[in-house]
Amino acid sequence: MVGFKLPLLLILLQAIFGSAYRWFNWQYEVTCESDAYVTPESENATALFLKQQYPKGSFIKVVGNGHGFGNLTTCVDTATTKTPSYIVSLTNLKHLNIDKKSMTATFGAGWDVFDLTNELKANNLSFNNLGAERVQNFVGATSTGTHGTGSLVGNIATQVIGLRVLDSQGNLRIVNEHTNAEELKAFRISLGALGLITEMTIKVQPTYLLKKTTKVLNATKDYNKMYNEISQLYKEHDRMTVWGPHFDWDEKTQDWSIEPTFFASWWEPTTYTGVHNCTLNYCANGCGDCIKNYICYDEVTDAMSCPPQGVCTREFYAEIEHFFPVEHLAEAATNYTLFQQAQTPRMKGPYNEQMIFQLRTLKGDDSYMSPVNTYNLEPKNSGVFAILEIDWIQTYNDWNTLWRNQELAYEFLPHFGETYNVRSHWNKMAAPNATYTLEQFPKLPQFLAIQERQDPKCQFVNDFLVQQLGITRCAKYLSS
Ligand SMILES: Cc1cc2nc3c(=O)[nH]c(=O)nc-3n(C[C@H](O)[C@H](O)[C@H](O)COP(=O)(O)OP(=O)(O)OC[C@H]3O[C@@H](n4cnc5c(N)ncnc54)[C@H](O)[C@@H]3O)c2cc1C
Ligand SMILES: *[C@@H]1O[C@H](CO)[C@@H](O)[C@H](O)[C@H]1NC(C)=O
Ligand SMILES: *[C@@H]1O[C@H](CO)[C@@H](O)[C@H](O)[C@H]1NC(C)=O
Ligand SMILES: *[C@@H]1O[C@H](CO)[C@@H](O)[C@H](O)[C@H]1NC(C)=O
Ligand SMILES: *[C@@H]1O[C@H](CO)[C@@H](O)[C@H](O)[C@H]1NC(C)=O
Ligand SMILES: *[C@@H]1O[C@H](CO)[C@@H](O)[C@H](O)[C@H]1NC(C)=O
Ligand SMILES: *[C@@H]1O[C@H](CO)[C@@H](O)[C@H](O)[C@H]1NC(C)=O
Ligand SMILES: *[C@@H]1O[C@H](CO)[C@@H](O)[C@H](O)[C@H]1NC(C)=O
Repeated sequence: MVGFKLPLLLILLQAIFGSAYRWFNWQYEVTCESDAYVTPESENATALFLKQQYPKGSFIKVVGNGHGFGNLTTCVDTATTKTPSYIVSLTNLKHLNIDKKSMTATFGAGWDVFDLTNELKANNLSFNNLGAERVQNFVGATSTGTHGTGSLVGNIATQVIGLRVLDSQGNLRIVNEHTNAEELKAFRISLGALGLITEMTIKVQPTYLLKKTTKVLNATKDYNKMYNEISQLYKEHDRMTVWGPHFDWDEKTQDWSIEPTFFASWWEPTTYTGVHNCTLNYCANGCGDCIKNYICYDEVTDAMSCPPQGVCTREFYAEIEHFFPVEHLAEAATNYTLFQQAQTPRMKGPYNEQMIFQLRTLKGDDSYMSPVNTYNLEPKNSGVFAILEIDWIQTYNDWNTLWRNQELAYEFLPHFGETYNVRSHWNKMAAPNATYTLEQFPKLPQFLAIQERQDPKCQFVNDFLVQQLGITRCAKYLSS
């Protein structure tokens, strides 16, 4: 790591300032204006920047790669405040140390999931859970509880065993299994609200091969029957994604029509080493020929998730992703589908294309803000969660269609939340209501106590965090 001498650093920091910067998320519908985009060269430079901004109470939004659907990662817009507002990206923090003795990897916050998995693979290592894609910044992914599928595997954040984080005064805090150990539960999924994480240490494992089996399933409008069959399939396969049912927009009738078939993929360990061929047909994001029966074999990373090359469609889309105890799967999926159909008359208009339901499972965990935290479960719950996603994909990037579909997407959580103990993905259309958040995240008060210690002047928050988490002490800072 190259350290800058203080005067040079100050000159460099000055040079960064004075250039307003507009931030956008991946599909450009979430945006904010900041005073500058700051990319410090090192942890020390980041700490110095924070020390300088603390007296002014500047707003500071640390960002990863912006792969979200809501306002979690939005900076405080300069139009709404007289206080300076900065976006910070730690993309330059790129050190990496793999320790094969302790089977850990320690790396700077600049690493993206894709590059990190490639580096691990080159060392015959992997980690156990990935999202469907690998485009996120690693800290950005863990900080919202990004996950793949598997009743016996946790989300990415469960692999984090240590980290370094800077508070709003630039003070470094070390959190790991030996130091401040209890706080790992707060910092693993920190929503960018607890400080700038500069480094993470994760558990890694020898990589291994998986067999992926994809099977075509028949859809039926008897949703209860269909979701009960899917539910049964989850009892047979602990690691499975059901891509479907799929619906296509019928321009003539202005209605969704269910496709006759959809597919499920499941993964299991294998000793077969003949080929690595899962990357021939990604079939996860609109690439490839998906609705057919086939098997493939690959190293876990490539078998489970798509590299950027595996991502084809990038039209605007609205989406919800809800987590609830797996025991509710069949009934909740049925009711969600019926609820969606009741919304359809309000979707009439141009540019609808496809609606995809997707089902996954995930092992619950003890991170305070984990969407699959187990703190409020009842004894009859197994601790495994079902994940229901609905994507509304457009034929054309039209704002009105996107916003209308997003408005409709927001109706699901208030309708089903209490009934099924539903939690939303933090970076995907969460509904703003702190009373509800407290019910689903019983450790919220502990999280907020740490938030206040790390950020006494509310520099790391934005409207989304204040409303979602009920950080009432911060409301006055946002309006100043
Ligand atoms: C097409 C698509 C597919 C997706 N598929 C999945 C999926 O299969 N499973 C799933 O769970 N999710 C999925 N997601 C959601 C995605 O994984 C999350 O939104 C993830 O948080 C995005 O990471 P990012 O770095 O791009 O995000 P950002 O929005 O830039 O950052 C996310 C959060 O991390 C915080 N943060 C970033 N860097 C730091 C840091 N250094 N210190 C402290 N906080 C930090 C930010 O402040 C923010 O709160 C998908 C998203 C898209 C767009
Ligand atoms: C960073 O700062 C710390 C404490 O001020 C100092 O000990 C360390 O040498 C610095 N590191 C670099 C790379 O400049
Ligand atoms: C994000 O916040 C802005 C400003 O409050 C709001 O107009 C917009 O609808 C929000 N976006 C989403 C996706 O919730
Ligand atoms: C990874 O495993 C392969 C096959 O066992 C071996 O040939 C290769 O040397 C290993 N690579 C490293 C970096 O250990
Ligand atoms: C789906 O329906 C077809 C035609 O009726 C049938 O041949 C096939 O076996 C069914 N598939 C499954 C998985 O039930
Ligand atoms: C992958 O290889 C296996 C074994 O040769 C074969 O049976 C399977 O059809 C191949 N899958 C794909 C998607 O090519
Ligand atoms: C969900 O479905 C069940 C069984 O069909 C029904 O009794 C219940 O009222 C529905 N709940 C909601 C919230 O729609
Ligand atoms: C919060 O949301 C829940 C669930 O949608 C709802 O029942 C409750 O009335 C809301 N509370 C407030 C204070 O808005």
